[in-house]
Amino acid sequence: MMAEAEREGAREVLLRPANTGDLADIMAIERVSYSAPWHVETMRGELRGTDGGKIYLVAESEGRVVGYIGSHYFAGEVHILTIAVASHFRRLGIGELLVLSLLLKVIQLGGEYATLEYRVSNEAAARLYRKLGFAAVAVRRKYYLDNDEDAIVAEVADLDDAERQAEVRALLDDWKARHEHELTTEI
Ligand SMILES: CC(C)(COP(=O)(O)OP(=O)(O)OC[C@H]1O[C@@H](n2cnc3c(N)ncnc32)[C@H](O)[C@@H]1OP(=O)(O)O)[C@@H](O)C(=O)NCCC(=O)NCCS
Repeated sequence: MMAEAEREGAREVLLRPANTGDLADIMAIERVSYSAPWHVETMRGELRGTDGGKIYLVAESEGRVVGYIGSHYFAGEVHILTIAVASHFRRLGIGELLVLSLLLKVIQLGGEYATLEYRVSNEAAARLYRKLGFAAVAVRRKYYLDNDEDAIVAEVADLDDAERQAEVRALLDDWKARHEHELTTEI
């Protein structure tokens, strides 16, 4: 009989807080994922995250980071600054898992809002966030300095509301039903 992790598409996935030991793996993904990647020292500073407001999570498979999400949490609002998944691990649900896990973390912290920006040309991001309940609320003109591209601002509100919390949990249950990954969570 085929083992769990050998079924088509099934992977072992560990979800955990990021640390500075993840820097090299994260930067390798960052550099192929963004036209204007962060400088390594910026990322290192974020991963040190000693002030408590920085929430960085990674998805790991077979000892390597395959995706990460980075955010700042302050006064009930989490702002998602970065998310990327390694090219060979895309369309396996990792991006969705990272965003949902962050939302659940914010719910645990008693937060109310999640906000983010994405490029108008980024269809994958637009679909991912829409699927997870983010609503587009504004456009920031020429927000991205490398090519003067506009940003869509999107948010999920009412994360302190029981109904919204149930929706987020239902999205994670739905994710688990659709994906056969062997998931371990340490957050
Ligand atoms: C955006 C990104 C993080 C998505 O990660 P991922 O692990 O491939 O996404 P998932 O497999 O969890 O996809 C979840 C949903 O997002 C949408 N989606 C993801 N990639 C997509 C693509 N290339 N085209 C269209 N929709 C896409 C789909 O709705 C998908 O659900 P489905 O597979 O059931 O159709 C990844 O493409 C990436 O790293 N891109 C480069 C960095 C980036 O643009 N980050 C966002 C900056 S705001």
